[in-house]
Amino acid sequence: MPKLIVVNRAGEERAVEAGDGLTVMEAIRDNGFDELLALCGGCCSCATCHVHVDPAFADKLPPMSEDENDLLDSSDHRVATSRLSCQIPFTAELDGIRVTIAPED
Ligand code: FES
Repeated sequence: MPKLIVVNRAGEERAVEAGDGLTVMEAIRDNGFDELLALCGGCCSCATCHVHVDPAFADKLPPMSEDENDLLDSSDHRVATSRLSCQIPFTAELDGIRVTIAPED
């Protein structure tokens, strides 16, 4: 199974495996990272699944929707590599990607 490396807010990193059909948000949440609140359950309306994504994978990510872009704008912690993790399907192509849970807004 493809692996995802998750860095929590304390800077600790852990590799987790995730099966097909999950989003990056679900892969993080289902592996016990309760810092990632994902309050809206993945329907792109809360921004509590905000992560900073390894720039090496930038060209493998799906394009950002206008809604995602607007929600990220509401965060004080937006950076060039910010994404909402519920908007990224976790595919084999993303094997080894590192995502850092963004600070809480
Ligand atoms: S879980 Fe709410 S925007 Fe991603």
